[in-house]
Parts: sequence; C-alpha cells; structure tokens
Amino acid sequence: MQVVKTLGQFIIEKQNDFPYAKGELSRLLRDIGIASKIVNREVNKAGLMDILGDAGTMNIQGESQKKLDVYANEQFISALKSGGECCIVASEENDEFVYIDGEVSKNAKYIVAIDPLDGSSNIDVNVAVGTIFSIYRRKTTEGKATLEDVLQNGTEQVAAGYVIYGSSTMLVYTTGKGVNGFTLDPSIGEFCLSHPEMKIPKEGTIYSLNEGNYVHFPDGVKKYLKYCQVEDAVTSRPYTSRYIGSMVADIHRNMIKGGIFIYPTTSSAPNGKLRLVYECNPMAFIIEQAGGRATDGYNRILEKEVVSLHQRSAIFIGSENMVRRAEDMMREFSPLDDQMEADSKLESLGIIGGLD
Ligand code: AHG
Ligand code: MN
Ligand code: MN
Repeated sequence: MQVVKTLGQFIIEKQNDFPYAKGELSRLLRDIGIASKIVNREVNKAGLMDILGDAGTMNIQGESQKKLDVYANEQFISALKSGGECCIVASEENDEFVYIDGEVSKNAKYIVAIDPLDGSSNIDVNVAVGTIFSIYRRKTTEGKATLEDVLQNGTEQVAAGYVIYGSSTMLVYTTGKGVNGFTLDPSIGEFCLSHPEMKIPKEGTIYSLNEGNYVHFPDGVKKYLKYCQVEDAVTSRPYTSRYIGSMVADIHRNMIKGGIFIYPTTSSAPNGKLRLVYECNPMAFIIEQAGGRATDGYNRILEKEVVSLHQRSAIFIGSENMVRRAEDMMREFSPLDDQMEADSKLESLGIIGGLD
C-alpha cells in the first residue's frame, strides 16, 4: 500500500530543520492550508453562484454573494486571526495593512502578505486561479507591529507559497530549504505530498507574456521576443508561447516544464503591473529555491527595496538560462540609464508619479 504524506505531517516533520522553532510557523502554514481548502470549495462552485443565489444578492444560507477575491481575502484573514500566529496581514484587497488584534494573537510574531485570489478575471471563464502568500518575522520587539515590520525586503522572507486552483488544486511552498508541492485529494480533504523537492529546468522552451502589449514593451523585451520566435534547430526555436493570465498558473507550468514568465515595464505601466510584496517577492523566493532566477530585467527581485505596500515591479522569472538571456537583451537594448532618463521625463511631465 502506498503511504500518503499529508501537508500537516510534512510541516511537523520539517519543523526539526529549525532547531529553535516552537511550532509557530508550522501552525501558520497549517492555517493557510485550511483557508485555502475553504477557498478551493468556493472557487469550485463559482459557476453555481447565480443558480444557488437568491436574486443574485443572497445565497441559500442567507449570506450575501461576494466577489470571490473579497471572499478569499476574508477567509485567509479570519483563519490567520483564529490561528493566533500572525499580527499583521498585508493584502492586495486592503489599501492599508490589517492588524490582527485580540487575546489569541497578542504574542504573534509573523507578518503575512497575501494575494488572496490571483488571476481573478479568469474566474468567470473557468480558468485556473491562485493564491500567493509570503511570511515575514516581525522586526520590532515591543508594542504593536508597525509599517517597518511589513516593508521588509524579499530576502527577509521566512516562507512563501502559492495555491493553484486548477484541474487539480495544489499548494506549493518553501521555507528556504527547497520547494515542495502538495495536491489536494478531495476524497479525504487533505493536501498530499505529490511533488517533493521541485526543481525548475535550467533551460526551457516556453515563454509567457501578454504579447498584446508589444508596442508598449521596452526594446530589450521586443528583441527577446524576436529571439524566441526565430527558427533554430540547436536551441529548439521557435519556442512555444503560453499565457494564461494568472501569474500563479503561468509560473507553475513553467516551473514544471521549464520556461520564462515576463511582465515588463510598459509605456502604459512604467513601474510594471505586478505587485512586489505579495506577487513578485513570494514567487521569486519559490523559483530561486527551485533553482530558477527572478529579476526585474536588471536586478534581483528579492533585493529590491520595499518602500510601499502596493509597490509595483517588472518581473522576469523562470528557468535560469532563459531569464539570463532576456536580461542580456535588456542591458543591451534597454540600458537602465535610458530607462531612468525616460522615467524622470515622464515624472516631470506628471505622467508617472511615485512608486505605484
Ligand atoms: P490579480 O487577479 O491578483 O489582480 O492578478 C492578475 C495579474 C496576474 O495574475 C497576471 O499575470 C496578470 O495580472 C495579467 O495581466 P494582463 O491581463 O495585463 O496580462
Ligand atoms: Mn495577482
Ligand atoms: Mn488578486
């Protein structure tokens, strides 16, 4: 008989990797796992909402119908509240970070940053969506945690993970000692270890980016795209283009098959679109732990200075050799000095401002 290892068992076993761990991080990860099962249940019946709901506003339990990203946000926050290990949640869905008050959380040491539902525009069309999370230890030692505790660089993450609600549901996470993936077995309601020690191939043949934005791309990205599309038997080009529009799903596929995901700066989104704290940093941590690479086209994502909660960043992430090649082309055809000069021109014209 094949022995199944559940996420809960695995987390407890791995606790021994951290000699002074008191089990708090393990409990936090377990809380996130529980909330993601609840979100999974709702995502799975997303198409039934209108049928089950009364006049589109109330469901049969009398709860008002909510957009799934708001629902997911509430589920994660309430699981983290009742778990007692988290003192602040920083979420895509909340303009300001949320304090977790109350007796049970009074000694909580961890900060969680979260994108509760990633790729939410795909919900209506039955395409994979995800959750991304990132965990930091609070820095301040007294009183209430502060903004300083939230705005830590990606290198300070103690754990990060994502859940993909796809043809099956998976939770993938790292605590800085490799990456492990768990598939939800709906018959027992448990995440079971299915992808131990995940590694992203060094080289790949899939590129993922929204090519509709081509005219707005920096020259370096345009050149890299051309490189991907040119015929060359030795490097198996032309490469394959795949873009789901859910970062989690695009990166998860590339992690398994090898590939690059790019969301560059564009002339209409001069700081990039994706958010550094709860999208780029956690995915960068996971991909690096799996042996891949993540930069903004010039510098390592994890070392970028975090100055605001909803700060954006460009991202080039995936198989190491592919990301390096794209970076070479960025340096050659879109040197950072030119970019900065263009940005400051736009800033002085009031077209872009600040960090967001
Ligand atoms: P979210 O649903 O959390 O707002 O994130 C959507 C993100 C990301 O998942 C995806 O890669 C990207 O937006 C798609 O953007 P485009 O539609 O501009 O390609
Ligand atoms: Mn997102
Ligand atoms: Mn989201």
